[in-house]
Amino acid sequence: MAKRAAIVTGASSGIGLAIAQTLGGEGYGLTVAARRPDKLEAAAEGLRSQGFEVNAVAGQLTEEEVVQRVVASHRERFGRLDVLVNNAGVGLGAPVGEIQTKRLDLQIDLNLRSIILFYRECVDLLRAAGAEHRNALVVNTSSISGKSGQAWLSVYSATKAAVVGFTQAMHRELGAEGIKSTALCPAFVDTPMTDFVKGQVSAEEMIRPEDIAAAVKLLLDVSPACVIPEIQFLRPAEAL
Ligand SMILES: NC(=O)c1ccc[n+]([C@@H]2O[C@H](COP(=O)([O-])OP(=O)(O)OC[C@H]3O[C@@H](n4cnc5c(N)ncnc54)[C@H](OP(=O)(O)O)[C@@H]3O)[C@@H](O)[C@H]2O)c1
Repeated sequence: MAKRAAIVTGASSGIGLAIAQTLGGEGYGLTVAARRPDKLEAAAEGLRSQGFEVNAVAGQLTEEEVVQRVVASHRERFGRLDVLVNNAGVGLGAPVGEIQTKRLDLQIDLNLRSIILFYRECVDLLRAAGAEHRNALVVNTSSISGKSGQAWLSVYSATKAAVVGFTQAMHRELGAEGIKSTALCPAFVDTPMTDFVKGQVSAEEMIRPEDIAAAVKLLLDVSPACVIPEIQFLRPAEAL
């Protein structure tokens, strides 16, 4: 049985899968969660083939009951939680006059509400890890659009800004118990989510999912006395 364990949501592709790879390589037992069962199982098999211990739970993380099922399954399989990665998210663009209520609710429920629910459901396990080694970690995938709201992506931007706010609050609320929280705020990353923009920005010009995973590895290693409340990932043109 792995000595440390992690939950990674949205782990069936892109950033979440890269983070799961990195955590698996660091010896973490993994519970991976995402929406579509077939895609998730294929990703889980790929991780198992590298020798990692992987528990996969598929479902809509917009549903409270599914969040609870993921955490219960993880608890049963590993009995501990050292790292929680709240990464599942969706971006649905629309001009403000055409925002559809269903798409508004989906983005709020997945990008923000599910993160809050995961914290609530996991906090006892995180506290136990914090009490043991003072270095439990929660990573929440926000976006650079959470730092600077983007036209057409207004709802997405608002949910991601809220993730930064919630992360700051959690860091202040739980930090003294040995539980670090960090929001990741990337610009375009080369994943299926950015396929819609690859006509204008090539995949080679984008941040790689592995770059985000490398930041998570750094967060594992930094001392709990060192606060990294957010990390922004800019592309060269944006960094000027
Ligand atoms: N790519 C970027 O440029 C970029 C930039 C900034 C922030 N982000 C954020 O990074 C995170 C990961 O995105 P990505 O780029 O890696 O995209 P991705 O490859 O499309 O991955 C999204 C993941 O979230 C899962 N997911 C989507 N809806 C879900 C739902 N209702 N319930 C459970 N799981 C669901 C997906 O599973 P299914 O495929 O089965 O739906 C998939 O595993 C998101 O929070 C996104 O907002 C991305």
